[in-house]
Amino acid sequence: MDDARMPLPFVLLAALLAVLPLGNGKPARSPNAEMRVAQAQAAGTTLWWQNAVFYEIYPRSFKDSNGDGIGDLNGITEKLDYLHDLGVDAIWITPFYPSPQVDFGYDISDYENVDPQFGTLGDFDRLLAEAHRRDIKVLMDMVLNHTSDKHPWFIESRSSRTNPKRDWYIWRDGKDARPPNNWISEFGGPAWTLDPKTGQWYYHFFYSQQPDLNWRNPAVEKAMFDQCRFWLERGVDGFRLDAVANLFEDPQLHDNPVLPEFVAGSTTEHAENNVYNYDLPEVHTELQGLLKVEDFYPGRVLVGETWPKTMDGLLKYYGPDKNELQLPFNFFFTKVPKFDAVAFRSEVEMTRKVLDDHPTTWVVSNHDLVRAYTRYADGKHNDQIAKILATMLLTLPGTPFLYYGEEIGMQNNDPKTVEEVRDPVGRREWPVNKGRDGERTPMQWSSGPNAGFTSGKPWLGVPPSAETHNVEAESRDPSSILNYYKALLRLRRQSPALLSGQYETLGDDPHVFAYLRRTESQTVLVGLNLSAEKQTIPLDKTALEGRQLKLALSSVRCPGQVLQGNELELAPFEASICTTP
Ligand code: NOJ
Ligand code: CA
Repeated sequence: MDDARMPLPFVLLAALLAVLPLGNGKPARSPNAEMRVAQAQAAGTTLWWQNAVFYEIYPRSFKDSNGDGIGDLNGITEKLDYLHDLGVDAIWITPFYPSPQVDFGYDISDYENVDPQFGTLGDFDRLLAEAHRRDIKVLMDMVLNHTSDKHPWFIESRSSRTNPKRDWYIWRDGKDARPPNNWISEFGGPAWTLDPKTGQWYYHFFYSQQPDLNWRNPAVEKAMFDQCRFWLERGVDGFRLDAVANLFEDPQLHDNPVLPEFVAGSTTEHAENNVYNYDLPEVHTELQGLLKVEDFYPGRVLVGETWPKTMDGLLKYYGPDKNELQLPFNFFFTKVPKFDAVAFRSEVEMTRKVLDDHPTTWVVSNHDLVRAYTRYADGKHNDQIAKILATMLLTLPGTPFLYYGEEIGMQNNDPKTVEEVRDPVGRREWPVNKGRDGERTPMQWSSGPNAGFTSGKPWLGVPPSAETHNVEAESRDPSSILNYYKALLRLRRQSPALLSGQYETLGDDPHVFAYLRRTESQTVLVGLNLSAEKQTIPLDKTALEGRQLKLALSSVRCPGQVLQGNELELAPFEASICTTP
């Protein structure tokens, strides 16, 4: 990707500022985020991440280089050419720090190293350099909210009530033999665990092995910002920030309002509205502070795992002056319940209405969600549906995040018995919730043993569909999902309208989601038929301003045809993209 979209004088100035030491030995501060965006806009350019296509890698499952059945950093390096050829601009790698792996890496016991099962710091440096050599940016996953209970900070903290690190975590007295309040954990049961040694309870929003840090303690803030600097100094291009809405809790520990729903398998057996331990206003102030850290390192990006209840809540994560997260995840798209043109259109319109000129992300799958392929499959047109999803994700105005394997139509492979389950929440809540193993299975590289992922025994099994849906087979098939993604990514990269054009919805057909993207120089029409019948899109000549359109890409036919007449015909489940020359 051409990442030098900042005007040259500004690039030089930013680079100079970054290396000039201040009196305190720190590099000089770059212009703040707001100014960077304004400068880029004024120059008619964008920052690299505004047009980038991100690709999420779950390292345990991407490629195993040493036959132990677990993917690793060298495996990712081995596959950088594949990613370059696919056409993505950036990868986000989920945690590979040292960890007891209770939550498969989201329980970190050392923020400044690599877990030996994934490799070494040297392997990471090589991966980063090789990615950069191919113009691929690399995002780390940073878990700010909690550590592992095996992190030395927590081991100290739990050792006595007077330990200097006691206040680095959230310790409280219980109410008789009960927890301090009614808060429940995301993964079931109370969000508090009693530590018999000191007779107090510690708070954990997630598993009990993931104690929450106390962000009201300035020493914690400093320590965690230092952990971020450690990786920024190594050259990473930014962070995907885990669970940011959880950073603060009500200091008075008010009980959350209890909701009427019964939660099977939960020891508290109720759901609650977590108003006192989620999305507190202090979260925003803290993230604005973190952006200032990143400001020392021009060109880096903060992506946030944000699950606000409303779109207005999501808007807040950009900050009052675009001074918070550059890319808070817009997960509302993942909540569209069925494959339905009206539902997707209204989600896009709601996003645009509320977020306005704030750049949004588009995502349909990740390591915590049942894969979109499985969610929307109808059993008959699964691959066509996958191509329509791809087209939507990659042609809407915003920053798409692909999840590994999405580009080959990987589907969920859920455990068949409770004994097979690896994700603790799946064991605890079986069979209502089978956990997240199903969306984390090995990348399907070939139709050979274990889908070419490992020469050993893979940590999770591959589904029978790996026989047909794999990189090797799909590379040979011109009509495969993989080749469709490649063509789509190529088209996106070459199209000014798809990269930065205005968006306009076309019509309100119940079966067709159609829209225009346009700049002064180019108009693009995207037509998505979400039904099993033939449909037509009336072509509004006024909207097209007399310009002629040519079929640039279709999921069912060869491109090239010049559009004649007043309508565009779409075959059942066809995705088509037409552009002006
Ligand atoms: C969100 C991550 O995506 C998920 O996988 C993890 O279990 C929780 N945060 C806790 O870190
Ligand atoms: Ca390995």
